[in-house]
Amino acid sequence: MINRPRRLRENPLIRGMVRETRASKDSLIYPIFFEEGKDIKAPISAMDGQFRYSPDRAKEIIDQCLAHGVSKVLLFGIPKEKDEMGSQAYAENGIVQQAVRAIKEEYKEQIYVITDVCMCEYTSHGHCGILCGHDVDNDQTLEYLSATAVSHAAAGADMVAPSDMMDGRIAALRAGLDENGFKNTPIMSYAIKYASKFYGPFREAAGSAPSFGDRKTYQMDPHNVREAMKEAALDEAEGADILMVKPALSYLDIIKELSYNTNLPIATYSVSGEYAMIKNAGKAGLVDEYGIMCETATSMYRAGSDIIMTYYAMEIADAIQRGDIG
Ligand code: PBG
Repeated sequence: MINRPRRLRENPLIRGMVRETRASKDSLIYPIFFEEGKDIKAPISAMDGQFRYSPDRAKEIIDQCLAHGVSKVLLFGIPKEKDEMGSQAYAENGIVQQAVRAIKEEYKEQIYVITDVCMCEYTSHGHCGILCGHDVDNDQTLEYLSATAVSHAAAGADMVAPSDMMDGRIAALRAGLDENGFKNTPIMSYAIKYASKFYGPFREAAGSAPSFGDRKTYQMDPHNVREAMKEAALDEAEGADILMVKPALSYLDIIKELSYNTNLPIATYSVSGEYAMIKNAGKAGLVDEYGIMCETATSMYRAGSDIIMTYYAMEIADAIQRGDIG
């Protein structure tokens, strides 16, 4: 036998040397839910280990992130009041705007703050835009999304991440940001976002489930690949700085395909349902939670993802430190 692949698997040193996928803590983003009010740290029952915080307790969770070497966060907001027009999404003193100010005041450049730009957490009907009858009015929604992004940047957000899936929103956000003096604020587009059941626990966490219908007229059909590349190309042409694929685990092929089709950095969102499945299967003693977390994160990097958003960000950072990932 001339070829013996086992020669390169003899011990941890040689295995480490020939490893093809490398990961860095720099690539991790931790999502945080902020809720209006004071002195709140409320457990999210569908996502064991995750909490909703009020802005005055932001320090608690940001200090934890930094202690693990995670220096990027993605903020979501849960407003007290919701209305038809989702007005708290773009209110100067909305919940995300409050949270951004609280974090930036304390940490300045120490932490990179990205905000999710969408309307579903803010509208009384739970859809991601302004309704016209029973459907979301694409073009009218663009103005509100743009206003939301501008208000986040004005509060101090380092980057905005639109997750609504309206057509033309990257161009609308870019124009709004540029006109308001934020030409250097990057846009990370949820470019390829599928209409997925994996968002279930998030909708409980954020109280953002649609009150009627579903999101299939704006989020993508899980069967489609070419359409995903079209979405990515449009967002790139409209000025997106980073392209995201979401969810992660059932869409690793899409990450790979995108890696052949773009020169932009690729981000992947390993969503709430993925976290909940691993967490709960681990708790039930059915799988090794830590091992599965490492293996699934590795698969996202291996598929071609440069950046990973995950509720396991701190644990993954520790695993990278130990050499269990990358
Ligand atoms: C807002 C938004 C959602 C998620 C991120 N941004 C929910 C949705 O589209 O229903 C899901 C994140 C997760 O499940 O962890 N549109």
